[in-house]
Amino acid sequence: MKRSVILDVDTGVDDSIAIVLALTLPQLDVKAITTVSGNVHVDEVTESTKTVLGLVNHAGIRLGKGSSASLRRTRFHAPEVHGSDGLGNIRKKYEQYKARIRTERAVPLILDILKNTKKTVTIIATGPLTNIARAIQKDKRRMRHVREIISMGGTFGYRGNTGPLAEFNYYVDPDAVDVVLHSGIPLTIVPLNVTETVRLRRNDVIQWSRKSNTSVSRFIADVTRFYMDYHKKVESFNGGYMHDPLTVTIAAVPEIVKKRIKSPILIETRGIYAAGTTLTRDARGSEKKAPIVSRIAEIDRRMFWDIFRNVLFSSSG
Ligand code: RIB
Ligand code: CA
Repeated sequence: MKRSVILDVDTGVDDSIAIVLALTLPQLDVKAITTVSGNVHVDEVTESTKTVLGLVNHAGIRLGKGSSASLRRTRFHAPEVHGSDGLGNIRKKYEQYKARIRTERAVPLILDILKNTKKTVTIIATGPLTNIARAIQKDKRRMRHVREIISMGGTFGYRGNTGPLAEFNYYVDPDAVDVVLHSGIPLTIVPLNVTETVRLRRNDVIQWSRKSNTSVSRFIADVTRFYMDYHKKVESFNGGYMHDPLTVTIAAVPEIVKKRIKSPILIETRGIYAAGTTLTRDARGSEKKAPIVSRIAEIDRRMFWDIFRNVLFSSSG
């Protein structure tokens, strides 16, 4: 039985690859895609998402555009990582693919997909949780029908990537994370300390592309170039983290999860240096009132890369 999903994305280089994966993996049935401000402004996110949808011939999918602002904090983007267009500055090269899709509004679209469903739809969030939080604020009862939210975000026992303590998605809109945490909707977090264990290397792309010369493999080679240059310069490895493709793969193939932890989770929503920090158990158990959340602690990397390569660098041309 396919898993019905809504993808909420801040396309983003790794989001763009996650979208292709989600639309290709046979285990998932993508009911809609919603865009949120994050890596770049939601206008850019939406145009880049349309480009990806056109590239993989999914112009028929429902697309909803979210708001440009977080619940409370000022806007924050990462063009230095993902390019000003969110696609590693290659969207112009793929202009002819951009799908002509009627863009709806994200929150009404999420709520419409959930109408007449009960615990059958999963939301995979690969960006800040602003849209999800706004949907909960608009119709909490309807949102309680969500089967599970699988969210790429947070970091546990590991450094942040946006300030020393926070992960980007949760830094951008910590108030939205707080709304989701306290909503009672089953939540699984795929944190930075796990997603940074899957690094797509430039050499892998070069090698795999030799045997798979498809529009998707060529797109991945193009879209990751800027992203990999950033990591080479700033983090001294010639590649790029596959945060969001891993998150989608966990939703599609839960067997790749080797360790999961259930624990109280809180998020810091204030603070100059600590906003967006995810907090868990302390020695005195003071977190008793905190919501219990499932987070991924370890995955089977070999299994992930087998899936990643077979789906995205298939030999068929
Ligand atoms: O911190 C990594 C996350 O932030 C990824 O989802 C990336 O696309 C950005 O949204
Ligand atoms: Ca993302």
